[in-house]
Amino acid sequence: MRESEQARGEQQQQPMFDENCPICEGTGWERIVEDGFEKVKRCQCYYQVRRKRLLLAARIPRRYSHCTLEQFKVSEHDYEEIAKKGKGLDPSKHQVNIAVAKFAAENFIRQYPTRKEGILFMGNCGVGKTHLSVAIIRELIEKKGVPCMFYDFRDLLKEIQASYDPQSQTSEFFVLDPVLTIDVLLLDELGAARVTDWMLDTLTYILNTRYNENLTTIITSNWLDEKKDNNEQTLEDRIGKRLRSRLSEMCKVYEIIGPDFRRKGGRIFS
Ligand SMILES: Nc1ncnc2c1ncn2[C@@H]1O[C@H](COP(=O)(O)OP(=O)(O)OP(=O)(O)O)[C@@H](O)[C@H]1O
Ligand SMILES: [Mg+2]
Ligand SMILES: [Zn+2]
Repeated sequence: MRESEQARGEQQQQPMFDENCPICEGTGWERIVEDGFEKVKRCQCYYQVRRKRLLLAARIPRRYSHCTLEQFKVSEHDYEEIAKKGKGLDPSKHQVNIAVAKFAAENFIRQYPTRKEGILFMGNCGVGKTHLSVAIIRELIEKKGVPCMFYDFRDLLKEIQASYDPQSQTSEFFVLDPVLTIDVLLLDELGAARVTDWMLDTLTYILNTRYNENLTTIITSNWLDEKKDNNEQTLEDRIGKRLRSRLSEMCKVYEIIGPDFRRKGGRIFS
């Protein structure tokens, strides 16, 4: 068992309140007086403990622990570009700059769970797809107490492989829980590894199930809908026509156009 999993297991067994809380004296319930009657309500420590637990359960990798909305910087230049109606960005390809992508993330958070349509962020390396997506699930957990989970695409493939039962030659889908049931799944780097036909079938099953159950999926991918040169593949080449088209129904698609944030000098803030 991985260390973090063990920590999670131990957390699950601990009570859902702070035993040293001065407000509820470690009961999880706060006494209040309303209209002359004494009542109890959930103490704030209950919500704090719940959020802490949800955050741990979300499995956000440590290298993305700094990814919050606040830390996602947008320059004056990016805002000016919106004012110029996104010159150079092709709306038919859902192209947006990072300012619009951040607005989209903020809108999504505000509207969830009334609107449950997910988001597909496509784009080149380092434009901030994972940062924004992690920021979204972090906000949903912290502000709305929504159970969310981060999954790297390659890790999901490993789970799909683990679900394979050689005897029946099909997947044992209970292995794939909670990928099938979590309220919000963040699937990072879709298409980053090659998939076999049966893996693709299982992946399609997972995403279809989530769609049918009205669960939200946020996806990032390096692969685009159009090739930049002849040798390159598209997202559809990587995951098949059927799944690519399903993603358009499940998610609002944005292709983020911007410099690679990781490269030195890639961005100058005004
Ligand atoms: N607008 C931004 N403000 C602050 N930090 C940013 C911004 N965009 C990206 N970063 C940082 O740059 C690094 C790369 O961003 P991120 O991992 O989100 O890119 P990506 O689009 O997911 O790239 P890849 O396709 O390689 O996965 C991260 O450390 C991220 O926090
Ligand atoms: Mg990424
Ligand atoms: Zn308390």
